[in-house]
Order: sequence, then C-alpha cells, then structure tokens
Amino acid sequence: MSISVRQVPSDPVAAPLLAFLHADMFPIPEQWDAESFASLLSGHGIRLWVAERSGEDVVGFLLAREVVDEAEILTFGVIPDMRRHGVGRMLLDAFVRDLRQQGVTQLFLEVAVTNGPACGLYEQVGFSRAGYRKNYYPDGGDALVMTASLSG
Ligand SMILES: CC(C)(COP(=O)(O)OP(=O)(O)OC[C@H]1O[C@@H](n2cnc3c(N)ncnc32)[C@H](O)[C@@H]1OP(=O)(O)O)[C@@H](O)C(=O)NCCC(=O)NCCS
Repeated sequence: MSISVRQVPSDPVAAPLLAFLHADMFPIPEQWDAESFASLLSGHGIRLWVAERSGEDVVGFLLAREVVDEAEILTFGVIPDMRRHGVGRMLLDAFVRDLRQQGVTQLFLEVAVTNGPACGLYEQVGFSRAGYRKNYYPDGGDALVMTASLSG
C-alpha cells in the first residue's frame, strides 16, 4: 500500500467528497455538510491537502486558511481504517513544509480537549497549548487552541 500526499486546487467541486469523508471521520455533531465545504472552498486563502492510497482513493485530508503570514487548520482527518499508519503525520508534515517555504510564520488550530489522538499528533509535530475555549463545540465540549511557530 502506498500513500502519497499532495496539495489540490481549492475547488467547490470537491465539496461532496469532503463531506462524505468528514462523515466517516467525525461524530455527527461535528460533521460538516457539502454546502459548508463548498462555501469554504470558494473562499480566499483556502488550502486543501489530500492523502491518497495508491494514487486513487482519498483516505485523509487537511483544509486550512492562510492569511498573510498566518495559517489556521480548519479541519483535518484520516478515515478510521487508515489511522495509525502515519497518514495524519504525512499530511501535517507536507502542509507545514509548504507553509515554511511560503514564509508563513504561525499556525493555529482548535482541538477538542478530549481528542487524545489529535493532541498527541499536534504535540509530536511541535504545537503547544495557547488557550482554552469553553463550550466551543455544538455538543458543549471545550477546545484547546494550539499554535506552532514556523519561523527559525
Ligand atoms: C487525529 C488523526 C488525524 C490522526 O491521524 P493518524 O493517521 O491516525 O495519525 P498518525 O498515524 O500519523 O499518528 C501520528 C501520531 O499521532 C499520535 N496518535 C495518533 N493516533 C493516536 C491514538 N489513537 N492514540 C494516541 N496517540 C495517537 C501519536 O503520537 C502518533 O505517533 P506514533 O504512531 O509514533 O505513536 C486521526 O485520528 C483522525 O482522523 N481522527 C478523527 C478526526 C480528528 O480528530 N481530527 C483532528 C481534529 S482537530
């Protein structure tokens, strides 16, 4: 099995596929529908990275927004069958490498305080905790704000 990661154009045509994958990756209250993805994908500074198995099936993706020298990860996931094979790490590494090349210096994200796998991965790639948002999620869950400095 070979996994490859690449940036693809931010095109609303990808919205149904992203919504389908998102439904497999996240619990119901956190799932985004195709309409939400289409609206995001047509915005400014949106970056979409996908992980593909054997150059075909998309098994993970990362959607982010870049504004001048800062970027924010909007959503990111790997389908359940493909977790713990390094796919999430590959996506994050490729994305961060590209941001550095473009001179982006700061990366942000929000993650549920209860999301151990994601927090573990973010800490592994150098994110640190920068804030706390109470009742951030639709189910009332709290979020951590995490940040990574990409300069230096
Ligand atoms: C978080 C997520 C993207 C990780 O993807 P993945 O491909 O399974 O991660 P990787 O295999 O690249 O793991 C890299 C590191 O992350 C951490 N990690 C990943 N899954 C973990 C788990 N279930 N438990 C503990 N640590 C975990 C580990 O530090 C791991 O390194 P290791 O394998 O050397 O121990 C995936 O679990 C996922 O899609 N979860 C649901 C969606 C989600 O929560 N997205 C993040 C929203 S902020």
